[in-house]
Amino acid sequence: MTVADGTELPEGRFDLVSTFDVVHDSVDPVGLMSAIRGALREDGTYLMLEMNASGDVEENRNPLGKFLYNVSTLYCMTTSLAHGGAGIGACMGQEKARELAYAAGFTHFRKLPIEEPFSVLYELKA
Ligand SMILES: C[S@@+](CC[C@H](N)C(=O)[O-])C[C@H]1O[C@@H](n2cnc3c(N)ncnc32)[C@H](O)[C@@H]1O
Repeated sequence: MTVADGTELPEGRFDLVSTFDVVHDSVDPVGLMSAIRGALREDGTYLMLEMNASGDVEENRNPLGKFLYNVSTLYCMTTSLAHGGAGIGACMGQEKARELAYAAGFTHFRKLPIEEPFSVLYELKA
């Protein structure tokens, strides 16, 4: 096992990279996702799991949304902002995820169907 910052991945090395609730916490989401894109081999896939929240506050007025805003304030945003980061937080939603994906140089972004109410899973390709 190697413990390392995801922004320092080796180039062109993997067929599959996955993150589980990492991007919304990260200091430099676009930098991290750019490094992941660079680490993929040709036709490699990045699976990005994130919380099942909307980017629209109104749409998060439900028990899960309330829980996520609390967790996000206490950990997700704080851990990023403490290092001068983006501070996106758990409730980034699909449109922000898509924006980050394209900013990081991915050209394919798709939400995959999963039967899990708390999470969303995106498939990204260069
Ligand atoms: C909410 S935790 C999720 C932990 C685990 N993936 C899970 O699903 O239980 C977010 C994790 O993202 C990691 N993280 C954030 N930015 C990172 C980066 N640039 N490189 C590697 N890990 C990062 C943090 O260290 C933290 O462990």
